[in-house]
Amino acid sequence: MAQLVLSDDQRKKLDSADDKLFYAEPRFVQHLDAAFRQRLTELYRERIPPGSVVLDLMSSWVSHLPEQISYGEVIGHGLNEAELRANPRLNRYWVQNLNVDPRLPLPQDSVDVSLIVAGWQYLQQPEPLAEELFRCTRAGGQLLVAFSNRMFFTKAPLIWSEGSDRDHLAYVAEVLVAQGWTISGVIAADTPAPAPLGWLGAKGDPFFCVIAAKPAAKAAS
Ligand SMILES: C[S@@+](CC[C@H](N)C(=O)[O-])C[C@H]1O[C@@H](n2cnc3c(N)ncnc32)[C@H](O)[C@@H]1O
Repeated sequence: MAQLVLSDDQRKKLDSADDKLFYAEPRFVQHLDAAFRQRLTELYRERIPPGSVVLDLMSSWVSHLPEQISYGEVIGHGLNEAELRANPRLNRYWVQNLNVDPRLPLPQDSVDVSLIVAGWQYLQQPEPLAEELFRCTRAGGQLLVAFSNRMFFTKAPLIWSEGSDRDHLAYVAEVLVAQGWTISGVIAADTPAPAPLGWLGAKGDPFFCVIAAKPAAKAAS
């Protein structure tokens, strides 16, 4: 049983219509600016060993993984089939509304690294999902939850739409720790705006990430 962190009120959102309707039309756009995406791809290069089985949860037509690195498998999930079909990094994918059913159709201990980019902010049942990710991840595996400071406001539950960036980091970490994850890193970093404004110190989308690990199994004594 997942350890609940949110109250019922914190799960409410302004637009309570089925999320599938909101994502019915494909959006072949970038949700995050180039500097954010570059920072994310760098993090993936540092953190995800080649050959890993990667799960890109709440994905779209892009996964932001470094092009030069090959992985054992990249499994995608999202709400729009056309976007997932167009994503060149995915070996396979499925469509599922996680606010209706947070159970993942993946075997236990089958994934090395899971990614959620600009997606956690729409979760109304983050605790059972975090528990499911824990179940599917191999001991020693990782979960990277990245986001910036924007959202589809009406689709974000109150826990997110009413919180600050700092609140978001603390909230994601709290939910993960409650399901047994260990927090191995938290990143809060500015990114530069595109040149020439970036040369003058203007900022791009801020980069936030919670990095969690599934503790390695203890050796039998
Ligand atoms: C802002 S997009 C980010 C997509 C992608 N990760 C990226 O980096 O471009 C948010 C994504 O969250 C997913 N999503 C939103 N609500 C969802 C829900 N209720 N169930 C499953 N996925 C959902 C959709 O797949 C949508 O593409």
